[in-house]
Amino acid sequence: MLLDGQPVKSCITRLSAAEGKRVVTIEGLASGENLHPVQEAFLRTDALQCGWCTPGMILGAVALLKRNPNPSDADISAGLNGHICRCGTYPRIIRAVHLAARKGGTA
Ligand code: FES
Repeated sequence: MLLDGQPVKSCITRLSAAEGKRVVTIEGLASGENLHPVQEAFLRTDALQCGWCTPGMILGAVALLKRNPNPSDADISAGLNGHICRCGTYPRIIRAVHLAARKGGTA
């Protein structure tokens, strides 16, 4: 999840750490029926992993693109470094982040 725009591991974040902060989960990224540009890019590039990894990668990518709207492959790898799983779709995740960057993924 994102706490005031910063990615944190929701499973080890104390509730008290979220007090007074803006919490965004994967469910909160979309705007009604409209997916966030990063969600859309992951869908279009088939960059999907399991139900734990995909939300983390997407939220991590959202935070990365806010810091760096035009990341290189190395920036993306470094920016998603906290996500340990690199199951088979990792090259597609990099493509998805580039696509989201071109589509305005910082929205
Ligand atoms: S995709 Fe989630 S553990 Fe590999």
